[in-house]
Formats: sequence, C-alpha cells, structure tokens
Amino acid sequence: MAKLDDPGLFGRQWAAAYDSPGNPDPAPAVDFLAGLAGAGPVLELAIGSGRVALPLAARGIPVEGIEASPEMVELLRGKPGGDSVPVTVADMADVPVNGTYPLVYLVFNTLFNLTVTGRQEDCLHNVARVLAPGGRFVVEAFVPDEAKFDQEEREVQVRSVTEDAVTVRMHRYDRAAQTFVRQTITFTDGGVRLQPFGMRYQWPEQIDAMAAAAGLELEARYATWQRDEFGPESTDHISVYRKPS
Ligand SMILES: C[S@@+](CC[C@H](N)C(=O)[O-])C[C@H]1O[C@@H](n2cnc3c(N)ncnc32)[C@H](O)[C@@H]1O
Repeated sequence: MAKLDDPGLFGRQWAAAYDSPGNPDPAPAVDFLAGLAGAGPVLELAIGSGRVALPLAARGIPVEGIEASPEMVELLRGKPGGDSVPVTVADMADVPVNGTYPLVYLVFNTLFNLTVTGRQEDCLHNVARVLAPGGRFVVEAFVPDEAKFDQEEREVQVRSVTEDAVTVRMHRYDRAAQTFVRQTITFTDGGVRLQPFGMRYQWPEQIDAMAAAAGLELEARYATWQRDEFGPESTDHISVYRKPS
C-alpha cells in the first residue's frame, strides 16, 4: 500500500496536535446535523477526536462512529462523554456496522482522505446500505480551486519559526488524478521531520454522480452550515443526499 493510502496515517501524523486551537467551531455543524438526526442513532464516518460527535451526543442524540486511527479514538475517549460513544476502528469506506441510521455524516473534507481509486465509490455504496429509507448522508467538502492549487505549488508556507524549530508546508497537485501531496516539514537541530498528507479531491458534481450510482439523491446543497446559498463563488459545500423511501 502506498504511504498516503494508509487509513491510519492521518492519526499517526496528526493526533498529537489535532485538538490544538485552529479547527472549525463545530456548533453550526451540530445545529445542522441535529435537525436531521430524528431520534438517531446517527453515524459519523471518520469520527476523529469527537469534535462534532461529542457536542451532538451531548444534545441527547445517540451517536456512533467509525475511525481508522486508534490514536484519534484515544483522544475521543479522554474527553467528557467520550466513553459512551461506540466506535468501530476500521476503514470508513467499508462502513462495517450493522445498524440502520436516519443520518450518516462525513465532514471536514474527509471523503477526500480516501485516496485509493474506487474507495470513495465503495464508501457511498456502503453508506446507502446502512441508511434507513428516507435517511440522509451529509458531506462537507471544499470546492476544488485550480488557481489556489497553482498558488500553493509555487509557495512555501511558513507555519512556525521558533528558536528551536522551523516548520514549513509545500504542495504538489496531480490535476489528472485529482490528487495532491502536502508535506509539512520541521527542521530542528536534531534533524528533519516529514509529515506527509494526501487527498483525492472531487468537484461537487462528481460527488453527486458517485452518490447517484449508490442510489442516493441530492436533496440540498449549501455553502455553509448556516444554509447560505451555494453558488459559483462558494469555496465549500454542505451536501445532503437522501436515500429514497
Ligand atoms: C480531519 S480529521 C476529521 C475528524 C472529525 N470528523 C472532525 O471533524 O474533527 C480526519 C479523520 O479521518 C480519519 N480517517 C482518515 N482516513 C480514514 C479512513 N479510511 N477510515 C476511517 N477514518 C479515516 C483520520 O484518522 C481522522 O481522524
């Protein structure tokens, strides 16, 4: 398996710093998802450290998760309420659970973490399998922007400079494959550390086509969790797919 295709890579590289400030406020996502959850249970793919799942569960909605990284699950377990969320440690593309859910969700661009050809399609088919009739699959993802990719390929992003270390970030895109590699590189007296990360990005219409092939219909698309209208200038989308009743 190529390094970037390993579902456990993200957690090994990023769990230690994942919950430091900088990740989005989950509150608008939690409001949105709670409105679709009914009595639950709901399923979060790539539940991570519970950024969204824990505040959703705190509203009394039963939440379950799938997560590839034991390191990320350990973070979740260390938080209030984190012990009572059932998590299956597995590759989310397989959705290896037996329940039936009114809502499954996959946020923070994480569909694109499935870098192996065909695995995003597998994921959508398996989501459709576990959705109740009339159930929803909510996806949050960025809208690919090739001008931004060009800029990112030209620049070295300086992440931090201290007396002990310098951290920079660089990107390389493969436009035909719709993948990228990002390296976060830390220089210290002791040496150099590489933290590779990769994604297979999709335009919203391509996600719609994968969903349709899995039997899911696009019900709504918004630019934000606050339901702002999606349009040509939108940088992100929240897409709601529905399994026909
Ligand atoms: C950006 S984090 C998002 C975590 C959480 N959903 C949130 O919004 O904070 C991406 C998560 O996806 C997990 N992940 C990546 N590939 C995965 C896979 N194939 N199956 C399950 N989890 C995966 C990572 O371990 C990490 O926890």
